[in-house]
Formats: sequence, structure tokens, C-alpha cells
Amino acid sequence: MSYAHIIVLQQDLYAVVQINRPEVLNALNVTLMHELVDALESLDTSPEVRCIIITGNEKAFAAGADIKEMAEASSMEMLQRDQFARWDRIRKIRKPLIAAVSGFALGGGCELVMTCDLVVASETALFGQPEINIGVMPGAGGTQRLTRAVGKVKAMEMILTGRMISAAEALQWGLINKVVPVEYYLEEAKSWASEIASKPPIAVRLAKESVLKAFDTTIEGGLEFERKNFYLLFSSEDQKEGMSAFSQKRKPEWKAK
Ligand code: HXC
Repeated sequence: MSYAHIIVLQQDLYAVVQINRPEVLNALNVTLMHELVDALESLDTSPEVRCIIITGNEKAFAAGADIKEMAEASSMEMLQRDQFARWDRIRKIRKPLIAAVSGFALGGGCELVMTCDLVVASETALFGQPEINIGVMPGAGGTQRLTRAVGKVKAMEMILTGRMISAAEALQWGLINKVVPVEYYLEEAKSWASEIASKPPIAVRLAKESVLKAFDTTIEGGLEFERKNFYLLFSSEDQKEGMSAFSQKRKPEWKAK
């Protein structure tokens, strides 16, 4: 796979997708988003990959959508570009997505982080929804996902003031999972990816699907969905293997079946 604005590396049973427009702090232009979605969808169907890391560089995960690219657009052009359809496709990736964040994660960059399932950050990471400062507002899920992640008043604070928050605050607010020194953030994300890649893939997939269901259903509907996925796993070979390995006091060997 060869792309202009991202680099895809596959190692062991996970992949690292690196956003690579360092000259503009990894601003997310239309081509980059097209490439990102293409790479994620292709990795999602690869049996060699069980978990995907999205990262940037030490200075920026992504400083938002490319402001210069959209500055002169009209509403109708924005509508016709339909760029958010791509973001919906990221939401539909079935394998776990880990954001490994250092430096700026702003606007669409912060929204991309929130589209991931787990977030490991460096001590230097900064998160924010600064769109208000350029006359707009979050458009790729920020008002919804941030509010669900940190609650109404903190989401209002970030979105209405446009202020950035530190990695330590983001951790305290429940936006991210872990903060480590800058030299280790990618290694830490890789170690999480390896751990998840060592789990039975079908159970991982159905567990991710069930947790995400909590965001768009009632508790009743969500419990029903969870139960059916739980029952479904009893027709997987990995469930039989996992439970017999437990009884036989040995390490399970997953077949992803
Ligand atoms: C285009 C960007 C950019 C962006 C930075 N650059 N962010 N270009 N779009 N979002 C470019 C700058 O123009 C500059 O290019 C180079 O990257 C380095 O940036 P500087 O501003 O010189 O760096 P610094 O002084 O360190 O300031 C860093 C910063 C600032 C605080 C992150 O760049 C900034 O405020 N960026 C915009 C952040 C933002 O508003 N994001 C939200 C975008 S709207 P040159 O050519 O001058 O060297 C959005 C909507 C999402 O995301 C909707 C869904 C997709």
C-alpha cells in the first residue's frame, strides 16, 4: 500500500497507520482522509491484522481539518464533498482502533481520537476543539462524542472557549486511557495492540460492537444486543478452546473461528 499522506506499517498481528503531513501539523485534507479510510478498511479485512494504531508524530497527531482547503468553500460545496461520509466509515471499522497521540490533537484531530476505541497519549499531548476561533464549530462528531466522553459542562468549556487541555487533564476527564513520557507513547500503544491482538478475534469484534452499541440505544436494547452477541460466541471454536484450556490449565490457541 502506498499513499501520499499516510504511512502504513504492519508488524506482528497489528498495523500502525501514521498521518504524515508534518509541514502542516498533520492537517487532515480530503486526500488524506480518503487515504486513511481506504487503509483502515483494507486492514479491517486483513486476517494478518487484529488491531490498528493511528498515530501522527511527536509534534502533532493532527491539528484539525485543513483550514486552507475549506476556507473558501460554500455550504453547497461542503454538502457535495460529503466528507463526513468518510468519518462514518471509520466508525464502522470492526477491529479495535488505538490512537497514539503526541502534540496537537485539535478539531478534526481530536474528533479522530474520539472515533478510536482506546487512547494512549504522551505527556506533551494537547486536546482541543478550537473551531469556534475560526468561525465554525466541530463537525465530525465533536459535539456528540466529547459530550458523551467528558460530560456536558466540560464539553461546553472546550467547545465554547476553544481552549486546549493537557494530557493530564484529558486523563482526569476520561477522554483518554493513559499518559506516558513522550519517548514511550508509541511503544505503549504497540504493547496495548499486541495484547489485544493476542485475544480471540471474534470475541474482540463482538465486544467492541457491543460497547459501541451503548452510544446509540436504550439500556434495554443494548442489553438485548449484548446477550445475543454473548450467545453467538458459543458457536465459535475459540469459545470451546478458551473454556477447555482454562479447565486443562493450559494456554488457549485461538483459531479466529
Ligand atoms: C491547515 C494548518 C493547520 C490546519 C496548522 N497548519 N494547522 N494548516 N489547517 N488545521 C499549518 C500552519 O498554517 C503552518 O503552515 C504550519 O501548519 C505550522 O503551524 P503554526 O501555526 O505555524 O504552528 P504553531 O505556531 O506551533 O501553532 C500550532 C497551532 C496552530 C496552535 C496548532 O497551527 C493552529 O491553531 N492551528 C489550527 C488549529 C485549528 O483551528 N484546528 C481546527 C480546524 S477546523 P505555514 O505554511 O504557515 O508554515 C476543524 C473542523 C473539523 O478541524 C471538521 C471535520 C473534518
